[in-house]
This record gives sequence, structure tokens and C-alpha cells, in this order.
Amino acid sequence: MSNDANAARAILTRSGIMPVVTVTSAEQGVAIARALVAGGLSAIEVTLRSAAALDAVRAIKQATPQLLVGVGTVCHAGHVRAAEAAGADFLVSPGTTPALAEALLASTLPSIPGAATPSEIMALLDHGFSCVKLFPASALGGIARIKALAGPFPDLRLCPTGGIGEHDAADYLAQPNVLCVGGSWMVASAWLAAGDYAAVTASAANARALIDRVRG
Ligand code: 3PG
Repeated sequence: MSNDANAARAILTRSGIMPVVTVTSAEQGVAIARALVAGGLSAIEVTLRSAAALDAVRAIKQATPQLLVGVGTVCHAGHVRAAEAAGADFLVSPGTTPALAEALLASTLPSIPGAATPSEIMALLDHGFSCVKLFPASALGGIARIKALAGPFPDLRLCPTGGIGEHDAADYLAQPNVLCVGGSWMVASAWLAAGDYAAVTASAANARALIDRVRG
């Protein structure tokens, strides 16, 4: 049994910015992973929104062992088991049903479960999760919502994701209750479609510089 809050916290702290990627093939996943590593990032979330996701996780783990590889868009117990079998380092979900919370608790992997509301956050805290993906962060009110959550939930740590870009990621990361900011801006679909991995590396390098600047 995991639900190791310290492990989830360590992953988010080490990552700082979490590129969220939907891959078309394992080969593409490896090319993206290499580009992110070249830019100085240390983690990737591969969403289960494409058939290639789990093969990509396996291939990325092999090609870039220094990269923490999470499986995202985990929605039910079957996804948890599939991510474990693929060798994922951690799990991320967009929201959390009671059944998914049980499956995450039963997993050996650290997880960052999703929540949008105070009641959903309270349910996760009751289960012992203290690191939560706030999704969809921008549509929920962005930084104003994150500040508002700090009062009632002083021990909660967030990974806001959804609608965040290079222009506002630093403002999110500067919030004391934010450990990591998630987003797909470093892996823009136009770049991936064009095979422009140099653009991915350049954006990842900007993200790395942003993390270092905010954290001093
Ligand atoms: C996710 O699954 O976390 C989001 O799709 C990422 O959001 P973004 O594409 O708005 O950055």
C-alpha cells in the first residue's frame, strides 16, 4: 500500500513544472522525452488519452531513465494497474471518484489525485493525500482560487494544471501552496506534428529557467 504523501511531494518538488503529453507513438514519446531532458526538465506526465501511451511509458523509461515518468488521465482501477505494469513512476488523475481513491491507495506508486472543489479536496485529505492536482486550474479561477484554498487547507500542496502557459506559470509556481505547475505548452501539438523537437527543448529550457528564477 502506498499513498506515500512524502513521495508525491518529492516528485512534485523535484519537477517544478510538469509537461503533460499525449503521444501518437512510443517513438514520438521518446523524442519528446529526450527533448525535455535536453531542456533541463526532470519529469513528464504521459496521458492515457492515446492508444500509444503505455508503450510510450515503457520506451521512455528505457531511453531516458533519469526522467520521472508519470501516467496521467488515470480514471479507474484498470488504469492504475496498467500504469504499474508499464513501469510508471507515479500516477496523476484529473478528478477522483471513491473507487479511484481506493485504487490509488492500494497502488505501490505515489499519486497526485485530481480535485476541483473544497469538498473534493477534503475527501482526499481524509484519505491521507496531501498533494493534489487542481484541475482545470485556470477555468476554476486560477491564482485567486489557489490563494483562497491556502486558508482552510494549510497542509495542502497543489499541482495546478489546465489552461496555464509560459506567460503565467511563474505566478502559479510562486504561490506557497504550489509545488509544481502542469501544462502542455512545452509540447505544443503544432511542434509535435511538425517533428520540431528543438522547439520543445527551447520551451523546456525556458521552463527550467522559470523554475530556477522563482525558487531562487
Ligand atoms: C491535463 O490533462 O492536465 C491538461 O490537458 C493539461 O492542460 P493544458 O493542455 O491546458 O495545459
